Amino acid sequence: MKTGEIREAFLAHFESHGHQRVPSSSLVPADDPTLLFTNAGMNQFKDVFLGAETRSYSRAVSAQRCVRAGGKHNDLENVGYTARHHTFFEMLGNFSFGDYFKREAIRFAWDFLTVELGLPREKLWVTVHITDDEAEKIWIEDIGFPAERISRLDEDNFWQMGDTGPCGPSSEVFYDHGEDVPGGPPGSPDDDLDRYIEIWNLVFMQYNRSADGEMAPLPKPSVDTGMGLERIAAILQGVHSNYDIDLFQALIQSAAEMVGTDDLKASSLRVIADHIRSSAFLIIDGVLPGNEGRSYVLRRIMRRAIRHGNKLGADALFFHKLVPSLVAEMGDFYPELREQQTRIEDVIRGEEEQFARTLEQGMVILNEALAEMSGTVIPGDVVFKLYDTFGFPVDLTNDIARERDFSLDMEGYEAAMQAQRERSKEGGAFAVDYNRTLTLDGETLFTGYDESTGSGTVVALLRDGEEVNALTAGDNGIVILDRTPFYGESGGQAGDSGYLRSNGLRLEISDTTKARGHHLHHGKVLEGSIALGDTVECEIDNAIRQKTRLNHSATHLLHAALRYELGDHVAQKGSLVDGQRLRFDFSNPEAMTPEQLRAVEDSVNAQIRANVEVTTQIMSMDEAREAGAMALFGEKYGDEVRVLTMGENGFSVELCGGTHVERTGDIGMFRILSEGGLASGVRRIEAVTGEHALREMRTVDHALGEVCELLRATTDNVRDKVAALRSQNRDLEKELARLKQKLASSAGSDITASAIDVDGVKVLAAAVDGADPGALRGIMDQCKNKLGSGVILLAAVNDDKVALVAGVTKDLTERVRAGDLMREFAGRLGGKGGGRPDMAQGGGTEPALLPAALEAVPAWVAENLKA
Ligand code: ALA
Repeated sequence: MKTGEIREAFLAHFESHGHQRVPSSSLVPADDPTLLFTNAGMNQFKDVFLGAETRSYSRAVSAQRCVRAGGKHNDLENVGYTARHHTFFEMLGNFSFGDYFKREAIRFAWDFLTVELGLPREKLWVTVHITDDEAEKIWIEDIGFPAERISRLDEDNFWQMGDTGPCGPSSEVFYDHGEDVPGGPPGSPDDDLDRYIEIWNLVFMQYNRSADGEMAPLPKPSVDTGMGLERIAAILQGVHSNYDIDLFQALIQSAAEMVGTDDLKASSLRVIADHIRSSAFLIIDGVLPGNEGRSYVLRRIMRRAIRHGNKLGADALFFHKLVPSLVAEMGDFYPELREQQTRIEDVIRGEEEQFARTLEQGMVILNEALAEMSGTVIPGDVVFKLYDTFGFPVDLTNDIARERDFSLDMEGYEAAMQAQRERSKEGGAFAVDYNRTLTLDGETLFTGYDESTGSGTVVALLRDGEEVNALTAGDNGIVILDRTPFYGESGGQAGDSGYLRSNGLRLEISDTTKARGHHLHHGKVLEGSIALGDTVECEIDNAIRQKTRLNHSATHLLHAALRYELGDHVAQKGSLVDGQRLRFDFSNPEAMTPEQLRAVEDSVNAQIRANVEVTTQIMSMDEAREAGAMALFGEKYGDEVRVLTMGENGFSVELCGGTHVERTGDIGMFRILSEGGLASGVRRIEAVTGEHALREMRTVDHALGEVCELLRATTDNVRDKVAALRSQNRDLEKELARLKQKLASSAGSDITASAIDVDGVKVLAAAVDGADPGALRGIMDQCKNKLGSGVILLAAVNDDKVALVAGVTKDLTERVRAGDLMREFAGRLGGKGGGRPDMAQGGGTEPALLPAALEAVPAWVAENLKA
């Protein structure tokens, strides 16, 4: 059976047993700051397990794309070196939400493996949690599984999604790959080897672990299972390593061609074949290589693959060339792979190019650091800087260091890294509040589509991340109400600000966010106090909200106009809408031309002038899809969605929970401020609407007026006048450069006269008035030419600082080095410097010492000149 057939067999089998087939969710978890990447099939059902969300079904089946790199479940470093680890893999899973439990879950798994797939029973091994007598009994009595092939384990049989969230004891099924493969059964000392491989994990979801480690029972015992598609494919295809299955063999074959190797067994090829999958799917799901969070993990994966390609001898960019074979292998089940093929290739090629440049720059930094070092240990902060600023992987620094007999100060590096982590943690304080609100049932009812005021009852209060009963004057905190007109930041629209009031209470709300269905009002009590159960009057800052509405509606029109103008590959990558402006990030391989920008701006303004009513409909997700509504990848939508239709003949149809204008004419005017590149393949447009657009045009008008006045020009001829000025300026600059050069050469010929003879070597040490470091270098060349052979130190004093250049003609560099000369005299002048044997630069901070220092040069040369 081919891998694709196995996937389909699984889905169909459970579908026929009453399970709803649910599509894979995005690799970027929706609305869940506790999770880096989707790492298990159950992620998209987390809220259902917790009881915070209900679905129309209680049994589900899925094939979920997962990434386990970074975060709690991290397999990155193992990839390529074992038969079974991947950064990207597919997890087949069946789920019960308070429907069936252990007995049925075990029965389902057993029947699927032994009957449907026909695996020999004697090849299987089972584990259960040490406390789980019940599961063991089911295996022995219901299934008739031999007790001697059941191991009872502790941590290995307890599964949790992350540090917080749903968890429970598990029972795992293992497959014995036979005596030829080293390793022992689960629980034996050799169980981490490859003979017994876990294929299916049945988790009996029973608890919710909170941030303080406490485990609260879930509303209903549930089931979450996960079977690695690649592992089961290996078994069914009679191979031992996942990398020998059809899908990977195709990828490995094409990787070998692209890098130009015949050694199909090379572990580097496995790394590349694995990493092209995670890279491509992360890009599909909106992650782009970068220096933070998810983006950084993607960058590490891509660079790791590129390095392995280079190791195999790839002499050109190769990684993006694997995308077509990935599309051939997986594009049928994941159409988005096919649809976005060009974009994926562009992003990967962009990263390959950038990494090539990084390697070049990093090598320069590293070489400089090595040249200046006294010992043989590269300091931790240098290693960190290479990594942090230049994206230079530590293992690469280590490789290069090793080649030159240097080692790394790993402790110092870890310390710098830790400090960085601490810094980034400070930004994550919100996660604390978020977890707290998990204890709260229900959702806040949002009344703000039609109202800007209204009353609500306080259901929770937070101060410093702790739940409290009251907030009093001077306190900063978070208020959660049962209903509110305050929009909570989501879908790119900024949260509302305003006031909460009641008898004696005045609470200023600076921002509203949203977490798990609750609107979190962040604010400060100005007067009085607020307590749980109080009813308060809400009033949003309506002026800001009104402007925000214009910007949000204009964003929808812009999105649609971009697709009409540029094509359907345009997809929203990010959006920010507030009372000032709108910002829209979207996929497009290249910069927009001025004509395209004008066309888009015109098209949005035409829709505004058409002044069509904006309609909102609540419908099912399927109906919305049928209506052609644009949904965002990676966004989480409930069973019912809100569909916004805007413009003539349904110009824009989009899912959205935000607040919008009543008629497009309300927007008034739309003006694009800028268009630029954000990352490879992603562009950003900033624009304004209504009053801001008018103001923006006035500002431009005004600036132009001032320029005209300064140039004594009119709007008609100002362009020509500026062009004339620039050309005049260029001529002046050229003339100036020529004069400087002339000055330098005459200075050079003058000062060589003062060279003196030290043991047959001409030594020149001189100050050149008014020269900057660039001019000094020019003079140095003159001096070298003039003397033919010699040792030279030139200095110039500028602003209380001494600029120094040292030079040694090539014939003498074996006897004395410019770098040493520089280090010595820069040091004497209270500064530092260094460089190559023939040329070095530096500076000092004590000009008063310069005459004596220059005088001392011949003596130093006499002393340091080698025979
Ligand atoms: N969620 C469980 C796992 O990932 C099934 O192993």
